[in-house]
Amino acid sequence: MESWRWTYSGIYTEDFISNWIRENYSKTRLLQQIAMAQLRKDAFFLGAFDSSKLVGFIHFRVSGSTAELLRLYLKPDYTRSKIGSKLLEEAERLMDRSGVTECILYVHSSNNIGVSFYQKKGFFCKGNEGDDLIMVKKYRNQK
Ligand code: ACO
Repeated sequence: MESWRWTYSGIYTEDFISNWIRENYSKTRLLQQIAMAQLRKDAFFLGAFDSSKLVGFIHFRVSGSTAELLRLYLKPDYTRSKIGSKLLEEAERLMDRSGVTECILYVHSSNNIGVSFYQKKGFFCKGNEGDDLIMVKKYRNQK
């Protein structure tokens, strides 16, 4: 929630952000999504912890040889700490084990931090959908 506000204030209205957080980041909703991911084994949530405090997470899903990176968010004070890089590396290790050859993501075109991070990690812009850039990274997978 904190990361969402930090990232999108100035991009979306306060009302939009509050509604989005209420609908997508309630404890109930997140627990449902995590339970479904564990059941279907097609999606993953990885957390980053400082001692026992959750400071960031990555959420992605795998479908055949394609993965979609759905969310990668850190608490604002933990940005530029390489934690995002470590979460992405761990996600890519799991994707590799699943035989993924391509990862796709959607990032708001005005989210300069997100866009520059993904570019540095080897994602390139494939097009756009509304205000979102569609970014893709290809992997060589021998599996
Ligand atoms: N200000 C400017 N650039 C930043 C910042 C910041 N506070 N934080 C990270 N970056 C970018 C820069 O490109 C930086 O490179 P540089 O230091 O050479 O300028 C690079 O990320 C640093 O890499 P890391 O330290 O590994 O990045 P970090 O640990 O911060 O993780 C992440 C990156 C996940 C994007 C994090 O900054 C974050 O949570 N940002 C807000 C949420 C967000 O935008 N998430 C992506 C939404 S789209 C989606 O989830 C599919």
